[in-house]
Amino acid sequence: MKRIGIFTSGGDSPGMNACIRAAVRTCLAYNIEPYGIRRGYEGMIEDDIQLLNAGSVSNIIQYGGTVLKTARSAEFRTPEGRAKAAENLKKHGIEGLVCIGGNGSYTGALYLQKEHGIPSIGCPGTIDNDLAGTDYTIGFDTAVNTAMDAIDRIRDTAESHGRVFFVEVMGRDSGYIGLYAGLAGGAEGILIPEKGNQFDVLIKYYEQKSRKKEFSIYVVAEGDEEGKALELSRRFLQHYPQSDTRVVVLGHIQRGGKPTASDRILASRLGAHAVKGLTEGKNNCAVGVIRDEIVYTSFEEAIKGKKELNDNLWVLNEMICR
Ligand code: F6P
Repeated sequence: MKRIGIFTSGGDSPGMNACIRAAVRTCLAYNIEPYGIRRGYEGMIEDDIQLLNAGSVSNIIQYGGTVLKTARSAEFRTPEGRAKAAENLKKHGIEGLVCIGGNGSYTGALYLQKEHGIPSIGCPGTIDNDLAGTDYTIGFDTAVNTAMDAIDRIRDTAESHGRVFFVEVMGRDSGYIGLYAGLAGGAEGILIPEKGNQFDVLIKYYEQKSRKKEFSIYVVAEGDEEGKALELSRRFLQHYPQSDTRVVVLGHIQRGGKPTASDRILASRLGAHAVKGLTEGKNNCAVGVIRDEIVYTSFEEAIKGKKELNDNLWVLNEMICR
């Protein structure tokens, strides 16, 4: 393999830059020309592709976001869009791809292989940590630390006023950020899509509190089936009209910021092993780290295999959170 294309796609996550850097530098170590594709599949279609060198990825490891930019491409979902993208890749002599992103990005890469014979290896880049084939995804650790830091700050003011806070964290279909940030932040309750009827549990325990003026922090994942933070706070107020309740939605704050050391190291390992895997003839798979070992999981499995929540952590939190 002489030329590899590298791109980020879908929602960005802190650590993507470290992954790009490692992929580029690993290509150079293997005498492969690394091509940067900007704005994911969108840039592939529009031929926004250029040769990179070691200097192109200098001084980026410490930044969140992605220097290659990212996009969610509607055109790439059509066979015509994918044909244009494949034509551009072939024009540049690109023989393999490193695709940094989530589920949707892996699906796109799979189509490129099936329809146009262009092999890819995926690096799991999403703050949600909802991808099978790896213990952790790039950006998750940073997002959890950001959410935890916010909870710590909210705790100060919540305690001063004796207020009840509903803090909403990201996780469209996954409670990973909610569980980890809630546990690390000492939340009094966690509401996540994987565990139903937690609102009733929350009410039950609040009822039992001896001093109703005591403050509480409840962490709610945006994808929780019982409702988002605002809705839950309204329901809570119906039960306790006297309570002083506030809502904080952390939103995209969790997607940005300096990646933690953990995320930078994970991203560097994954970026390097994606390139290495391509040189060894692996393709159509995602690279991940499971129990500290590098593993490759087929795209099909990574896409359809829903990562189970770590139930031990849930049980632990249930025991110590109130
Ligand atoms: O990156 C995944 C995620 O953070 C989800 O948790 C969230 O629902 C979504 O992205 C929001 O992304 P956007 O605003 O880019 O559509």
